[in-house]
Amino acid sequence: MTIKTYYDDDDVMCSCSGTKRRDIKRLFNEGADQDAISRRTGALSGCAGCEWDIGEYLRELAEQQK
Ligand code: FES
Repeated sequence: MTIKTYYDDDDVMCSCSGTKRRDIKRLFNEGADQDAISRRTGALSGCAGCEWDIGEYLRELAEQQK
Protein backbone atom coordinates (compact mmCIF):
# COMPACT_ATOMS: atom_id res chain seq x y z
CA MET A 1 0.00 0.00 0.00
CA THR A 2 1.27 3.41 -0.95
CA ILE A 3 0.63 6.28 1.39
CA LYS A 4 0.22 9.60 -0.38
CA THR A 5 2.17 12.33 1.28
CA TYR A 6 1.65 14.98 -1.37
CA TYR A 7 -1.22 16.58 -3.17
CA ASP A 8 -2.02 15.47 -6.66
CA ASP A 9 -3.70 18.11 -8.79
CA ASP A 10 -5.70 15.33 -10.46
CA ASP A 11 -7.36 14.36 -7.17
CA VAL A 12 -11.12 14.70 -7.38
CA MET A 13 -12.06 16.74 -4.31
CA CYS A 14 -15.80 16.74 -4.98
CA SER A 15 -17.16 13.50 -6.33
CA CYS A 16 -20.62 14.97 -6.92
CA SER A 17 -19.32 17.51 -9.43
CA GLY A 18 -16.01 15.90 -10.43
CA THR A 19 -14.14 19.01 -9.32
CA LYS A 20 -10.41 18.39 -9.15
CA ARG A 21 -7.84 19.95 -6.88
CA ARG A 22 -6.39 21.82 -9.87
CA ASP A 23 -9.79 23.48 -10.52
CA ILE A 24 -9.98 24.73 -6.97
CA LYS A 25 -6.39 25.95 -6.98
CA ARG A 26 -6.88 27.79 -10.28
CA LEU A 27 -10.05 29.52 -9.12
CA PHE A 28 -8.47 30.39 -5.77
CA ASN A 29 -5.53 31.95 -7.61
CA GLU A 30 -8.04 33.96 -9.66
CA GLY A 31 -9.42 35.34 -6.41
CA ALA A 32 -12.52 33.18 -6.02
CA ASP A 33 -13.73 32.44 -2.52
CA GLN A 34 -15.45 29.21 -1.47
CA ASP A 35 -18.90 30.41 -2.57
CA ALA A 36 -17.63 31.46 -5.98
CA ILE A 37 -15.79 28.17 -6.41
CA SER A 38 -19.01 26.36 -5.59
CA ARG A 39 -21.00 28.38 -8.11
CA ARG A 40 -18.46 27.92 -10.87
CA THR A 41 -17.71 24.22 -10.39
CA GLY A 42 -20.79 22.78 -8.69
CA ALA A 43 -18.61 21.61 -5.81
CA LEU A 44 -20.25 21.85 -2.39
CA SER A 45 -23.69 21.98 -3.99
CA GLY A 46 -24.55 18.28 -3.79
CA CYS A 47 -24.10 16.13 -0.70
CA ALA A 48 -21.60 18.62 0.83
CA GLY A 49 -19.38 15.72 1.83
CA CYS A 50 -16.42 17.62 0.37
CA GLU A 51 -16.96 20.73 2.48
CA TRP A 52 -14.30 20.02 5.09
CA ASP A 53 -11.63 18.91 2.59
CA ILE A 54 -12.18 21.87 0.28
CA GLY A 55 -12.33 24.31 3.18
CA GLU A 56 -9.11 22.93 4.59
CA TYR A 57 -7.42 23.09 1.21
CA LEU A 58 -8.48 26.72 0.76
CA ARG A 59 -7.09 27.54 4.20
CA GLU A 60 -3.80 25.92 3.23
CA LEU A 61 -3.67 27.89 -0.02
CA ALA A 62 -4.36 31.09 1.90
CA GLU A 63 -1.57 30.25 4.37
CA GLN A 64 0.86 29.74 1.50
CA GLN A 65 0.14 33.25 0.28
CA LYS A 66 1.22 34.85 3.56
S1 FES B 1 -18.80 15.52 -2.72
FE1 FES B 1 -18.93 17.65 -3.10
S2 FES B 1 -21.04 18.08 -3.02
FE2 FES B 1 -20.93 15.91 -2.78
